[in-house]
Amino acid sequence: MLDSYNREINYLRLSVTDLCNLKCKYCMPDEVVKCSHDDLLRIEQLVTIVKALTFLGIEKVRITGGEPLVRRGVVSLIEQISPLVKTVSLTTNGTLLAPVASDLKKAGLRTVNVSIDTLDPILYKQITVNGNLSDAIAGIEKANELGFELKINSVLQSGINENALPSLLNFAVENNAVLRFIELMPFVSAGNYFEKHYIPASEIIKKFDLEFIEYENNCNYYDFEGKKVGFITPISNKFCYNCNRIRITAKGKCIPCLHCMKEFDLAPYINDEKTLIDALSKCIKAKPEQHNLSDGVVQTNMYNIGG
Ligand code: 5AD
Ligand code: SF4
Repeated sequence: MLDSYNREINYLRLSVTDLCNLKCKYCMPDEVVKCSHDDLLRIEQLVTIVKALTFLGIEKVRITGGEPLVRRGVVSLIEQISPLVKTVSLTTNGTLLAPVASDLKKAGLRTVNVSIDTLDPILYKQITVNGNLSDAIAGIEKANELGFELKINSVLQSGINENALPSLLNFAVENNAVLRFIELMPFVSAGNYFEKHYIPASEIIKKFDLEFIEYENNCNYYDFEGKKVGFITPISNKFCYNCNRIRITAKGKCIPCLHCMKEFDLAPYINDEKTLIDALSKCIKAKPEQHNLSDGVVQTNMYNIGG
């Protein structure tokens, strides 16, 4: 359906947990407040919400978290929603992917985005606070072997991975994956990480003398030595006018924009399709025209909301 600014909303980012097996510095605080399992919607409730949203024109669902693969039942969720929509995709840190990739494929998943910011195992450990790079690589390799459509997402961090482009791009190409860099966004949960490490995409583009190729899906693609690399610029060049998404948290809150403070609790309506659809359309209508990060409006965190 159309929101109040005439944008066609057809894309849902559905978070299935706010827990994660990693603790990336730009995402999680040192002490994570865990949500209790009782607060989470059950898998069948998530399916009910997706079904209601298909009546409002949602065609694409991306499963996120936290780390979605720490949630039991994610395979069953995908199996149940993939017949309802055109595409189901997954955003994951990849470290738990290899063992379940084949089940996910059977469940109907077609595309996977793996987040990986560096190919240096020591730096990877520092950024993710104890993640094993080899697990994430195994996840990507397995997904490629199984024929998933693959993207690799890297968060740009000055002084951390600003030289990672050539190695990450070679790795991506070897694994038939599209590499995209995303500008670091501020979250209260990450303390002053943003102030310390934000770098605009334009600096990397200049540094590597990249040549513009094309714009597609909120991403600008450039050429580097005959290979294609994307940049998503939520900070330096926001794409809100083109936004087609809403988010639903693992606890059943519908969030019209990652960077706004509005949320609509769906839990009271889950047993009645009509009121559920009403609540969902209210949320879509409440989507703000654009985010106001530059005015200092900063969301508490992303792992509750869904990356
Ligand atoms: N800025 C930009 N991207 C972020 N992600 C998590 N936190 C941030 C942040 N502060 C990314 C992850 C992953 C996706 C879920 O969101 O790296 O790619
Ligand atoms: Fe986990 Fe993703 Fe947050 Fe890293 S960015 S801590 S992998 S949810």
